[in-house]
Amino acid sequence: MPKRYTVTSALPYANGPLHIGHIAGAYLPADIFVRYLRLRGEDVVYVCGSDEYGAAITIKAKKEGTTPKAIIDKYHNIMKSAFERFGIAFDIYHRTSEQIHTETSQAIFLRLHEKGEFEVLESKQYFDEVATQFLADRYIMGTCPKCGNENAYGDQCEKCGSSLSPTDLINPRSTLSGSKPVLKKTKHWYLPMNKYEDWLKEWIVKEKQNTWKTNVYGQCKSWIEGGLQARSMTRDLDWGIPVPLEGAEGKVLYVWLDAPIGYISATREWAKQNGKNWEDYWKSPDTELYHFVGKDNIVFHCIIFPIILKAHGAFILPTNVPANEFLNLEGDKLSTSRNWAVWLHEYLDEFPDKQDVLRYVLGSILPETKDSEFTWKDYQARNNNELVAIFGNFVNRPNNLIFKYNNGIVPPLGELTEYDKSVLAELITYPDKIGDLIKNFRFRDALAEVMNVARLGNKYLADTEPWKIKDNPERVGTIMNISLQIIGNLSILSKPFLPRTAEKLEKMLSLDGKASWDEAKKADLVKVGTTITKIELLFEKIEDDVIEKQIQKLTINNKQLPINNNQETTISNNIKQSQTTNNQQQPTNNQSVVPQKELINYDDFSKLDIRIATILAAEKVAKADKLLKLTLDTGIDTRIVVSGIAEHFKPEEIIGKQITLLANLAPRVIRGIESKGMILTALDGNGKLRFLHPSEAVMNGATVS
Ligand code: MF3
Ligand code: ZN
Repeated sequence: MPKRYTVTSALPYANGPLHIGHIAGAYLPADIFVRYLRLRGEDVVYVCGSDEYGAAITIKAKKEGTTPKAIIDKYHNIMKSAFERFGIAFDIYHRTSEQIHTETSQAIFLRLHEKGEFEVLESKQYFDEVATQFLADRYIMGTCPKCGNENAYGDQCEKCGSSLSPTDLINPRSTLSGSKPVLKKTKHWYLPMNKYEDWLKEWIVKEKQNTWKTNVYGQCKSWIEGGLQARSMTRDLDWGIPVPLEGAEGKVLYVWLDAPIGYISATREWAKQNGKNWEDYWKSPDTELYHFVGKDNIVFHCIIFPIILKAHGAFILPTNVPANEFLNLEGDKLSTSRNWAVWLHEYLDEFPDKQDVLRYVLGSILPETKDSEFTWKDYQARNNNELVAIFGNFVNRPNNLIFKYNNGIVPPLGELTEYDKSVLAELITYPDKIGDLIKNFRFRDALAEVMNVARLGNKYLADTEPWKIKDNPERVGTIMNISLQIIGNLSILSKPFLPRTAEKLEKMLSLDGKASWDEAKKADLVKVGTTITKIELLFEKIEDDVIEKQIQKLTINNKQLPINNNQETTISNNIKQSQTTNNQQQPTNNQSVVPQKELINYDDFSKLDIRIATILAAEKVAKADKLLKLTLDTGIDTRIVVSGIAEHFKPEEIIGKQITLLANLAPRVIRGIESKGMILTALDGNGKLRFLHPSEAVMNGATVS
C-alpha cells in the first residue's frame, strides 16, 4: 500500500523574482524529496503557489507606482515559469488571489470564530497620521527587542527570526512616511496562542525532539518556553481577504493566516482538476504532512499554523518542517535591493541547458544545518571536477565503447570474477543508503552518494581496462554489461537530483523511465540485446570567461555599497533588477550595456546634488576587501565616503585626484564608518572601474548639472 504524503514549499511573495537563496531554502530540497517519494510509488501531492496578499505586495506596488494586482500578475508569471524551467515538479502552482482560496480561508476563519477560538479585542494600534493609515506588519519598522536589529518589521525580525507585534518594536517608524506613528483605537480578532502552550510542549518539545532537525526544534523550544502571546489574525488593510463578519468592514485576514491556508486551497484546486479527494490529503490521519521552508518561516509553520489547524479540529498536523538556514553569495548576504543575487530566471536564460548543473551545485551546498555559501568559482569547480570529470566521464566511456565492441548492443554477462561480484554487491547498497539519507533530509549527503555510484563505475572501468583486452570478447562483454547496469542504476538514483540528466541516461539505455527506486538494485535492469542510443556529452566544461562574466555582472549591479541596512531582503526587489535582465544579450567587447532606465522628469534629476571633490586621503577598511575609506574636500566640507572600489584602486594612487560625488545621498554606516555620499564611476569594457574627472581641474564643490 502506498503511503499518502502532502508536501508543501513556502508560498513565495509575488513581489519579486526568485533567487538561488529561495531555491536552496524551500524548493530544491522539497523537489528532491517528492521526486524520491514518487519513485517509491507513494501517493504524493506537492503544492505551492504565489503568496499575493499582505503588506509586502502593496509596498512593492507603491514603489513601482502601480497596483497590487499588476505586481502579483507580473511576479506570479515570472516565478511560475522559472520554477517550471528549473524542474521543480509541483502538482500545482496556485495563487492566493484565486476565489477558491478566499472561500477556504474565510471558511476556516469562520469555523474558528464559531468555535469561540478568537478573542475580539479593542486595542490601540500604530497609525500614520501623515498617510492616514493603520500600520500593520511591514508598514512599520523599528528596533527588535530581542536582538537589537534596527530594521525589524512589525510582524517579524528577520535577523533573529522572532515573531513580533508592532508594539514590541523600540523606536517604531512608519515605512510609508518615515514619521513616528501614534496609537489609535481599533478592533481585532486575536488567536490566544498562550492557550496552546501546554499542547505545544507535548506535541513539539516532547514528541518531536528526535525527528525534527535541531535548528528547527531548538527555535521552537525556546519560543514555546519563552511564552506565547495572543496574535491578531486580522488587519486594517485594503489588500487581503475580507474578514467575513459583520462589524469587520474594511478589515482583512492577516496574511500569515491566509497564506498557509493557501496550501489547502491549492490542494483543493488540484484535487478538483484531477478527480481526487482533497480531504484525503489534509484530514486523513495516515497522511504525512511536510512543510519545506526557510528559517525565517519556522515560527509560522511550526507554531502559528499548527495552532490554527489544531483549533479548527479537522486537519492533520505537520509530521515535519525541515527548514533550511540561509545561503550566502560570494561572501555576502543575498540582497534583493543591492541586486546581490543570482536570479533564477536570469540563470535559466543564460544557461538554458544547465538546470541540472545548478541543481547539482545547490544540492551539494544546501544550508541544511548552517548557513552556506554559493560562489561562481565553486560552481565552476563542481561542474568541471565532479559533473564532467566523474559523472560525465564515466557515462561517456561505455557510451562509446559499446559501439566499438558490440555495435551498440548490450552483450550478455559471462562468468563473473570476484571483483565483478564485489562491485555488483556494492552497487545494490546504494538505493537504501541514498533513500535513508533523503528521508532524513540529508540531501547533500544523499547527492554525494549518487556521485559515489559514478565513482564506482569509473573505478570499475579503470581497474578492468576493457580497452586493453584484445582476445577475450566474452570478458569485454561482461565488463560492458556491468558498466551499463551501473549507468542504469544511476539513471534511477540521480533522478530526484538531476532529472534531465537521468532522462538522457534512460534514453541512452532505452529504459522507459517507469522503473521504481528499488529497481536500482537489479543487476539486469538493462536487458541483454538492447540497442544503446548514443548520447551527446552529458556535461561540458565551463571556461573561466563564463564565470568571470557572472562575477562581473554581480559587481556591476552592486557598485552601490554593502550597507548596514537590511530593509531589503524580503520586502521587494528593486526596479533596477528587472531592467538589467537582458544585459547578456549584447556581447560586444565582452561587456554588456545596461538598457536605459525608465524616464524621469527634471524634478527627479534636480534632486541629485552632484559635485566635484578632491580625494585628500584614502585608506583600506579593515577586514573588507572591497572598501576604501576616502576623505574628500567637497568645497562645502571635508567628509568621509566609504566606497566599494578597493579592488580597482590603490589608496596611494588616488590621493589628490578630482572625482565626481553624489553629495546628498542619505548617510549610511558601513562597517562602523558613517559614509556621506557616493563616488560616481564608470565600468569599462574590461571590468575596470574609472573615476569621472572634469576635463580640466575645477574648484572643489563645483556642481554637475
Ligand atoms: N511568503 C512568505 C515568505 O516569503 C512565505 C509564506 S509560506 C506560507 O516568507 F505558509 F504562508 F504559505
Ligand atoms: Zn531580532
